[in-house]
Amino acid sequence: MKFFIDTANLAQIKEAQALGVLDGVTTNPSLMAKEGIKGEANIKKHYVDICNIVDGDVSAEVISTDYEGMIREGKELAALHPQIVVKVPIIKEGIKAIKYFSDNGIRTNCTLVFSQGQALLAAKAGATYVSPFIGRLDDNSTDGVELIGKIVDMYHFYGFETQVLAASIRHTMHIIRCVEMGADVATCPLDAILGLLNHPLTDIGLAKFLADYKKVNG
Ligand code: E4P
Repeated sequence: MKFFIDTANLAQIKEAQALGVLDGVTTNPSLMAKEGIKGEANIKKHYVDICNIVDGDVSAEVISTDYEGMIREGKELAALHPQIVVKVPIIKEGIKAIKYFSDNGIRTNCTLVFSQGQALLAAKAGATYVSPFIGRLDDNSTDGVELIGKIVDMYHFYGFETQVLAASIRHTMHIIRCVEMGADVATCPLDAILGLLNHPLTDIGLAKFLADYKKVNG
């Protein structure tokens, strides 16, 4: 199971990278806006800055919704750095663009996926990753993790190579349940990754070990 961090915040990306367990980064236009990154040149520079921090894949999302625009943008993004994966929404033009990118050696992350049918189309078009948004499904009274399981099973049954990237993760149980479902990747906020460390028995046990050491060693 690969861990990506779901942010455009460089400090958080550096903190996750320093843990030594980070495999990549996902961003989206909302996350870039949250960091105040605006203007084409600044946005592109920010993607390169992220690539220079981490070793793995960095998803950079296209803004265009027409085929020609997506192709132009995707080529520009992919040319920025070998670690860039072009993020494309699951719309009709997006599927055509993913097929083009796949045929031309440009890796893609098909985003805004909320159904098995969308995931099927993404895989048939040759997406490198498919991103089902589990938190947003949960917000709408639908079990997001269940969808991860269905997509994983479907890809295994038909031998699709597209990796299932669980997105819109909100907390540690989402991560654990995605592991149980066999997701290839989970993209998480830093808090959710660090939350995996938490257990009161660890804190109690460590405090006792240190206290016992101090008793005899001063
Ligand atoms: C990442 O690829 C997605 O854009 C992101 O996980 C969406 O998360 P959200 O639903 O918390 O905005």
